[in-house]
Amino acid sequence: MAAPEPLLTVRDLGVTFRTPRGPVRAVDGLSFDVPHGRTLGIVGESGSGKSVTSLAVMGLHTGAEVTGSVALDGRELVGMPDRELSRLRGRRMAMIFQDPLSSLHPYYTVGEQIAEHHRVHFGTRRAAARARAVEALAEVGIPEPKRRVGEYPHQFSGGMRQRVMIAMALVCEPDLLIADEPTTALDVTVQAQILDLLARLQQERRLSVVMITHDLGVVARVAHEVLVMYGGRAAEQAPVDALFAHPAHPYTQGLLDSLPRLDDPDDVPLRAIPGSPPSLLDPAPGCAFAPRCARAAAGSPAERERCAGERPPLGGPEGHTAACHFAAFPAFPAYEGVAP
Ligand SMILES: Nc1ncnc2c1ncn2[C@@H]1O[C@H](COP(=O)(O)OP(=O)(O)OP(=O)(O)O)[C@@H](O)[C@H]1O
Ligand code: SF4
Ligand SMILES: [Mg+2]
Repeated sequence: MAAPEPLLTVRDLGVTFRTPRGPVRAVDGLSFDVPHGRTLGIVGESGSGKSVTSLAVMGLHTGAEVTGSVALDGRELVGMPDRELSRLRGRRMAMIFQDPLSSLHPYYTVGEQIAEHHRVHFGTRRAAARARAVEALAEVGIPEPKRRVGEYPHQFSGGMRQRVMIAMALVCEPDLLIADEPTTALDVTVQAQILDLLARLQQERRLSVVMITHDLGVVARVAHEVLVMYGGRAAEQAPVDALFAHPAHPYTQGLLDSLPRLDDPDDVPLRAIPGSPPSLLDPAPGCAFAPRCARAAAGSPAERERCAGERPPLGGPEGHTAACHFAAFPAFPAYEGVAP
């Protein structure tokens, strides 16, 4: 039986900002799928293009030139008129951000905001929309939802506010949820609770989720598939188990090496990959990671020349690809038992 069509299909996505210093190619040649009921983790350091990618998928790329294709259930979104796009936003696809206060209005109660969202998309009457808001707050684990529906955003803690945002994003039952660093501002315990909540909702509703993060720990917890971005491009794409067991790209290997280990003493500073992100204004001709790459540094002069002069294409076995001339993939049997 053929696999079902993915909900979201992104092909050769490019996003360019025109700036006084020249074009900034923030996203370049990115392709990925998000199947129904699955979670894609997009991971990469600051400036790698994660947020620009998610905004482009949502059609919120004011001022940027977007090329390539973004299809939701087969409908092309790139070039779609704004009116049509805004009907899809909220109704079929929704987004949550790191800072819920920036998306919640301070002068309206959370109940009014959730209810209004429902009314706009479904034309629900006021009382029914309010009842739906109470249900939505209960679904995301807010205690005493009947009382709290009448409170204002500032009366909620950071974690509870993020739950309100999730309730608002999901009240119209979208198929796709994009979560851009939704737990970065929260402490570790609350972060775990929110990630568990998202994982539960994702399973119960067969939601497709794009989870954007700079934290591989978050990816390990919620993602089925992972896209590692570097300098606006895909460095590696793989099922989550394969990525952690057999990282093929030196950048992914560096990210994994920088994760804190259980046996680390408390006073050991976090390891980071030395060097800084590549310039998007004036991209180098070869591999964008070359100046920071341990594999390239350890290579022969001919290998180093290739890394500096020739941009590596994405390649590898079915379902696991990396953009590195010397990507180290394990032999085929290593992939047996890896969840698709
Ligand atoms: N409006 C804009 N004009 C020019 N450049 C922009 C604009 N918006 C984003 N960029 C550039 O695009 C690149 C990618 O930005 P993006 O916000 O997607 O990074 P990110 O991966 O989400 O980083 P972070 O982890 O810090 O959120 C950055 O170099 C950024 O400076
Ligand atoms: S192509 Fe070269 S520089 Fe780029 S990641 Fe691979 S080894 Fe490193
Ligand atoms: Mg971002």
